[in-house]
Amino acid sequence: KGVTDTSPIIISLLFPTQVMERNVDPEGTLLTFLGKNWTLLSKSWLLRLTGTKYACGRGGCGACTVMVSKHDPVSRKIRHFSVTACLMPICSLYGAAVTTVEGVGSIKTRLHPVQERIAKSHGTQCGFCTPGMVMSMYTLLRNNPQPSEEQLMEGLGGNLCRCTGYRPILESGRTFCMESNSCQQKGTGKCCLDWGENDSSPLGKKNVHEVICERGEFQSLDPTQELIFPPELLRMAENPEKRTLTFYGERVTWISPGTLKDLLELKVKHPKAPLVLGNTSLGPAMKSQDFHPVLLSPARISELSMVTKTSDGLTIGAGCSLAQMQDILAERIAELPEEKTQTYRALLKHLRSLAGQQIRNMASLGGHVISRHCCSDLNPVLAVSNATLNLISAEGTRQIPLNEHFLAGLASADLKAEEILESVHIPHSQKWEFVSAFRQAQCQQNALPHVNAGMRVLLKEGTDSIEDLSIAYGGVGAATISAHRSCQLLLGRRWNELMLDEACSLLLDEVSLPVISFLFKFYLEVLQELKKLVKMFSVPVGALDSRHHSEVSDQFLSALENFPVTIPQGVQTYQNVDPHQPLQDPVGCPIMHLSALKHATGEAMFCDDIPMVDKELFMALVTSSRAHAKITSIDVSKALELPEVVDVITAEDIPGTNGAEGDKLLAVDEVNCVGQIICAVVAETDVQAKRATEKIEITYEDLEPVIFTVKDAIKHNSFLFDQILEEVHVGGQEHFYMETQRVLVIPKTEDKELDIYVSTQDPAHVQKTVSSTLNIPINRITCHVKRVGGGFGGKVGKPAVFGAIAAVGHPIRLVLDREEDMLITGGRHPLFGKYKVGFMNNGRIKALDIECYINGGCTLDDSELVIAFLILKLENAYKIRNLRFQGRACMTNLPSNTAFRGFGFPQGALVTESCITAVAAKCGLPPEKIREKNTYKTVDKTIYKQAFNPETLIRCWNECLDKSSFYSRRMQVEEFNKKNYWKKKGIAIIPVKFSVGFAATSYHQAAALVHIYTDGSVLVTHGGNELGQGIHTKMLQVASRELKIPMSCMHISETSTATVPNTVATAASIGADVNGRAVQNACQILLKRLEPIIKKHPEGTWEDWIEAAFEQRISLSATGYFRGYKAFMDWEKGVGDPFPYYVYGAACSEVEIGCLTGAHKKIKTDIIMDACCSLNPAIDIGQIEGSFIQGTGLYTTEELKYSPEGVLYSRSPDEYKIPTITDVPEEFNVSLLPSSQTPLTIYSSKGSTQTYHCTSGMFLGSFVFFAIADAVATVRRERDIAEDFMVQSPATPEWVRMACADQFTEMVGNCLFS
Ligand SMILES: Cc1cc2nc3c(=O)[nH]c(=O)nc-3n(C[C@H](O)[C@H](O)[C@H](O)COP(=O)(O)OP(=O)(O)OC[C@H]3O[C@@H](n4cnc5c(N)ncnc54)[C@H](O)[C@@H]3O)c2cc1C
Ligand code: FES
Ligand code: FES
Repeated sequence: KGVTDTSPIIISLLFPTQVMERNVDPEGTLLTFLGKNWTLLSKSWLLRLTGTKYACGRGGCGACTVMVSKHDPVSRKIRHFSVTACLMPICSLYGAAVTTVEGVGSIKTRLHPVQERIAKSHGTQCGFCTPGMVMSMYTLLRNNPQPSEEQLMEGLGGNLCRCTGYRPILESGRTFCMESNSCQQKGTGKCCLDWGENDSSPLGKKNVHEVICERGEFQSLDPTQELIFPPELLRMAENPEKRTLTFYGERVTWISPGTLKDLLELKVKHPKAPLVLGNTSLGPAMKSQDFHPVLLSPARISELSMVTKTSDGLTIGAGCSLAQMQDILAERIAELPEEKTQTYRALLKHLRSLAGQQIRNMASLGGHVISRHCCSDLNPVLAVSNATLNLISAEGTRQIPLNEHFLAGLASADLKAEEILESVHIPHSQKWEFVSAFRQAQCQQNALPHVNAGMRVLLKEGTDSIEDLSIAYGGVGAATISAHRSCQLLLGRRWNELMLDEACSLLLDEVSLPVISFLFKFYLEVLQELKKLVKMFSVPVGALDSRHHSEVSDQFLSALENFPVTIPQGVQTYQNVDPHQPLQDPVGCPIMHLSALKHATGEAMFCDDIPMVDKELFMALVTSSRAHAKITSIDVSKALELPEVVDVITAEDIPGTNGAEGDKLLAVDEVNCVGQIICAVVAETDVQAKRATEKIEITYEDLEPVIFTVKDAIKHNSFLFDQILEEVHVGGQEHFYMETQRVLVIPKTEDKELDIYVSTQDPAHVQKTVSSTLNIPINRITCHVKRVGGGFGGKVGKPAVFGAIAAVGHPIRLVLDREEDMLITGGRHPLFGKYKVGFMNNGRIKALDIECYINGGCTLDDSELVIAFLILKLENAYKIRNLRFQGRACMTNLPSNTAFRGFGFPQGALVTESCITAVAAKCGLPPEKIREKNTYKTVDKTIYKQAFNPETLIRCWNECLDKSSFYSRRMQVEEFNKKNYWKKKGIAIIPVKFSVGFAATSYHQAAALVHIYTDGSVLVTHGGNELGQGIHTKMLQVASRELKIPMSCMHISETSTATVPNTVATAASIGADVNGRAVQNACQILLKRLEPIIKKHPEGTWEDWIEAAFEQRISLSATGYFRGYKAFMDWEKGVGDPFPYYVYGAACSEVEIGCLTGAHKKIKTDIIMDACCSLNPAIDIGQIEGSFIQGTGLYTTEELKYSPEGVLYSRSPDEYKIPTITDVPEEFNVSLLPSSQTPLTIYSSKGSTQTYHCTSGMFLGSFVFFAIADAVATVRRERDIAEDFMVQSPATPEWVRMACADQFTEMVGNCLFS
């Protein structure tokens, strides 16, 4: 296994010490090699590079980004490019150097400026995406030490982050950009550095500070300090090996020929063997279904990378990467007259938005063309532009057209088995020829298109008569399809509206789901170009149909503009600390996340980074493929026959309790959803365990009924427990934490003790569940949580299931892959709401009756709590005296939904806000007037009779109106809308009242343990878990203030059930608040004990006092405890004090929508939150920004798709689109309300934990939704269509497109609206 016949050097890892590797498994990727491989170095030490992270395994998230460097034989230069290690076959790295995050810098030696800046700019929260971000940015700087902002956006476009909202990451990258060497606000009067001693800030408060202006401290970038390309590899590249290299694995052989002749001979010998270029198409396919015993790698064949410029076009080698193709096209566009480069421009336009930078660096033109993906961006353009494919085989060469027959895979138009694609010839365009490309996708960047098109027309010289026309669509069938028949029928027609009308009906007939609006855009584009040509060439009167052309007014030209990708701007303001606060006291300061530097260097250890333990085995889960069925048999014999399989665990093997009734850990007799866990395979490696799951045969007998939607559940009266104006639908949401669920269980040799290392928000729950599953006391089990790579509620309940299944009495590692995680774990509850509302003409709401149904999935999980929270939070900030809220959790045959940031609030409040919008439409008033009129204004009681003072709510609202210049912008929006028919702007401002905590006192208790050691160093432990929200950082800030010593003397190692027992889940907005109280209490106890010594020796140092305390036998360890806030709810009477306090805020968002595509651009967002005296404003602002962006995902892009059989389709970042770096508003301002106080919380802070801000922040994302709805309403008003359309979240481009009903959507005859 992994032995080569030639022992070539396959990979050179640029680490502080260079590592050369010779023996590799051809099936392995670079990621598995880095993470799992234990490489024995000459110095006899072991290397395990865990900085490169696994998060999706399909090239879609960028967490595994590394830099590959290769010597380019043509330019004789070293080419550095970023790649996703999860798709990079290890064998393809022959002769390449790989730099991982560990090779860039380390906290032990020297930090690289990229690492330092991302950390200090607060660009890391959970830190799981950070190494990937660092590597993308580092590669960009290796190629261009002073990149443009556009290059920065492009470079980071393939990296996802679920926590930060990207703004601080971009901010750190921007410090390297040539346009931006100083604060973006500097010189505008808004930057704090512009303010003199006696100036006041633009807010009129000179104690307000802006986080962004702290870049003076950064070390400068010195490109001469970078690692050099290994001379051995340079020598290898200069004298290239011509031999064929073969790498044998257990199942797969990798053959890399050194010459084209050898490659062609090999293709004859192995006609079925695929050619592996970028592996971005082959790799994901091989993971799921395809298996190829022989793989041919043409990476060393220089003929496939040739580029030839001819007089009639450009021939690009099939081996050129898409990134190289971008450069080649850009170069050619600069060299040639515009008329010749129409096709190149169209291709370049699509290449800019095709995938992320890493995929464009890896994917080849040949692989792209040959894989013929149905939504290929390039094939439609190449097809309409008459591109030809140059094929080569041992027999010779031939050309075939890249046309609809080739794209449909017709044998007569395809490659023969022994042929390969050598190059693609793309002809120049000519005068009077126009080529365009269009695409509609969920996000602007890094999203596969739903539909795309390439269009080309050749007009008869000097006229508007169609001489030739080609249209091809992608995404609407199994392959790219051509509208050949329609195009033929249009030949000879003049380019006018009559032709457009006819073309639309022809296309509708020919292509099953045409996006006719693309044709309309193309029509306008050509018209515009024609106008230019007419002027340029003085075309005679009559040659063009001026009657129709003159009708295209400026108002309609808005159809042509695309949304440009721009780097966001913004200001983050917060209150400065009291000038009299001691310098050592960090409370209120924007302290960097404690682990930020380790996140940036990859040295932060996550659960799966823990080195393998002795005799460790791996577990893989077998899940149900049926939604509702009886299990008639489970046959594990074939799996057990495999030599590497150790055991298969079924429900019968559980010695204690198998979960709860109706919520079993492992299914018994019956399954209730696709993805329910049935059994688990234990094997020597993760790959073997996974493969063995396929050998387990389960037979089912389907059961009725099968229920998937809330409406079905209502029909079947399927619940988990026991004058309508409108309906509201809110889709569910996948947590998409970057670190999937993972656990490592290590049994000890004595007394049935177990150590469990787990990525969870609730270690005590894991401990309890494992105890009952194994039937052993809780005190034998210790759960450890060092840090969690994002949780968002998804790691409250589920990790206990995985911990319990993995506790089989052997060291077991269980790591869910992304698809499994998304399939099994459930997410946010989809909601179906109905409301009845009574209101006055002036917008005062008199009565509101809301009924909400949430889709709970197949088990109870947290659904009861979610529905309770939802009901209590539905009123948001509005005082409506006659209210009736009812909620029910529906039982369906989907995986159980669970806790998610906001706990029902983001879904429920959307119903309330939709009702407000509908009332506004009925009253003919703007929605903000209805909101203002109905908002709580004075001290009052909620519907459940809890008293509160909305003073800061009103302050937030007024401040938001003021800071966003709301009214003048409302006018500007209206002006814009009058002038633009196909683009509309919308604006929305909404107040937020969000309640904090659980409705039960016992859930608010917390404990901490603080030890002082004899050298004066302090170890703090508390019951909260570090999920990226900076809880540990805040706890040390508290301890530092209390003990009056710097944070640098303190440490938090982990959260452990052995140090702080019986903890409550870090959730429900209360974690850092209550744990902070416990830490404070422990520190105060310790300080009290030290007081006599300090009083006696006030001049002494901390170390002196501790030494003296030890001498005097004073205990230097204390437990702190906080009993919790009182909270209760009497559901019978409908009254209570369920929440300790409320958080207030307001936000305003402005968007622009493209009516023809449904795409939107976030123009500006202003958020004001009341954090009182924030413990750490940098962390709190980061939480607000991150959750806002996550909220925009919920309401605009994240769509769960199921098959009719209840199988979740959207199981990877390809199919499920979380916001990307281009989703940040162009201007994004966040302010913490100054001078706000609350006596209730620690140091008067409401910002002591992430969740206050992030749960309410989630809902703030809906403001983008309502701004989009505002724009849609304008469109519908203008077109005289009913304004009160059905509210459906997410507002995906398809939904927006259809809501903007026009002649084209009408033609499709598929309008969703009443
Ligand atoms: C995360 C992600 C996002 C993506 N987003 C987009 C997107 O937005 N738009 C879009 O259009 N595409 C997108 N893609 C698809 C991507 O463009 C293709 O996967 C890629 O172009 C394939 O090229 P490759 O070199 O990786 O092919 P490989 O995977 O290496 O090979 C693919 C197939 O082509 C064959 N082949 C390769 N070269 C030759 C040759 N010279 N002769 C004969 N056969 C050959 C191989 O045998 C194999 O069957 C995305 C892919 C990923 C992974
Ligand atoms: S893990 Fe490789 S791109 Fe997501
Ligand atoms: S910090 Fe980016 S995913 Fe958590």
